[in-house]
Parts: sequence; structure tokens; C-alpha cells
Amino acid sequence: MKLGVGQMAPRVTENEGNIARLKAILKEADEKDIDVLVLPELLNSGYVFETEEEVEEAAESIPEGRASKLLLAWSEKDRLVVAGLCERADNGIFNSAAVFAKGNHVTTYRKIHLFQNEKDWFQPGNEEPPVVSYDGHRYGVMVCFDWAFPEVARILALKGAEVILHPANLVLPYCQRAMITRSIENGVFTATANRIGTERDVTFTGNSQITNPRGELLTQMSEEKAGVGWAEIKPEEALDKMMTDRNHLFTDRRPSLYSRITQVPDD
Ligand code: ACM
Repeated sequence: MKLGVGQMAPRVTENEGNIARLKAILKEADEKDIDVLVLPELLNSGYVFETEEEVEEAAESIPEGRASKLLLAWSEKDRLVVAGLCERADNGIFNSAAVFAKGNHVTTYRKIHLFQNEKDWFQPGNEEPPVVSYDGHRYGVMVCFDWAFPEVARILALKGAEVILHPANLVLPYCQRAMITRSIENGVFTATANRIGTERDVTFTGNSQITNPRGELLTQMSEEKAGVGWAEIKPEEALDKMMTDRNHLFTDRRPSLYSRITQVPDD
């Protein structure tokens, strides 16, 4: 199975240009015969907003919006795609990851850990990140800053995810390394699709990557170039959770000693 990560540079206020950039990436993914594709966060809007109007004008309904329709069409040939979208919904605007497979809108995950100024523009999602089935395998979805909360990847793995699909707009230098740890500690593949470029005064780090359950990098893209990276993977390799012949990543856990993790912190 060919797992792909698309790297591109969406830009605030260039809604038409963002659609053109998405078309170019989908064309390249088509040419490379990708089966499962991950695309960056907020690809229809850009990231560094200055006004609410910029957010509102870029936001789209899922699956009726322009980017959604292109993604739906791409998925029709028996494929799965996860893309970060600025989503307009009845109850607000969300930083979302929409999942399309085989010509259907499967689900939308609304980012639960908003980063920095995202808190000015988006409502936080309030639902657990999803795991979807596709061609006999299980795929979990999280968005960008969710990487800093290891509970998210753990929950996805406990729900059966063999591969974690991770749209991102990364600015801190840590995530790519952290995702190697997320892979090792959960015994899963991860695919982080990051954006590139400088928008207003913010520079994004590129280096989109795919890791295997042992934390090895199967592919890592450059810091600056748009395109589609990929790796051939066997998702079922993630079903083996034995780290040694006597250590199982899940059954060796001691949840009765972890109750602090689920205590609601005092503000
Ligand atoms: C991020 O969550 N976009 C850093």
C-alpha cells in the first residue's frame, strides 16, 4: 500500500490560489499512484489570519465546499485522503481534518488542542479523534498540535489505528522528532503532512514525514519544496505490539496508576 504525504504552501487571502495548489498536489498524488494521502492543516485558508473576515471568507462547509469536492473526487478511485480544512459549521468555525474514501465523506475531526492564535479564530472540537476503516486496515486522525498531547496518539492506537494520519502547519522544531516517539510508544505508522513557506511573519518547517512502528523514518521531505512524498507500507505490521518477547505495549500498561492523566486540571 502506498502511503503519501503532500507538502504545499497555502496562503491567507489567496483562496483561489489555494484551490490551484490543491489541484497540483492531487495531480501529483494521482501520478504517483498513492492509495492513502495526507495533506496539510488548513489547506483551503492559509494559517496566519489577521481578521475574522479572512477566516470566514476562506471557510467552507464539508463536504459541500470547493476543496472538499476536489478531495471527494480524488478519493473516488478506491482511495482515502485526509486533509486539513478551515470548516464553516452551524455552530462556528473549526480547524478540521476531513476524511474522504472511495467517493464518500467518511468523517470530520475538529481539532481539540488549538495552538496559540488559533484560539482567536476557531472553536475547539469536543469529540475524541476518530479511527476509520479502509481496505481492511484502521487509520487514526489527529491535527498538528495534538502531537504535544501523547494521550491523543495513545487513544487512536487503543482504538485500533495501525496508521496515524496527521495534517499539520508546524512552526516549533519538535514535532517531527516527537512523532518518532509516538510511533515507537504506540507501535504504529505515522504520516505527518506539513506545510512550507513563510506567511506574514511565520515560517513553517516542512519536513513532512512517514515513520514505521519502530520509529524509523521511511521518508522525509525537504524544508521548502512542495510535492508528494511516499512510502510503501504494510499497515498490519502495526498489529504486533510486542516490544520484547516479554513486553506488550498495551497489556503491560498499568492504567490503575494513571488516574492523574484523566483528572481535570484546576485553571
Ligand atoms: C499547529 O498546531 N498548527 C502548530
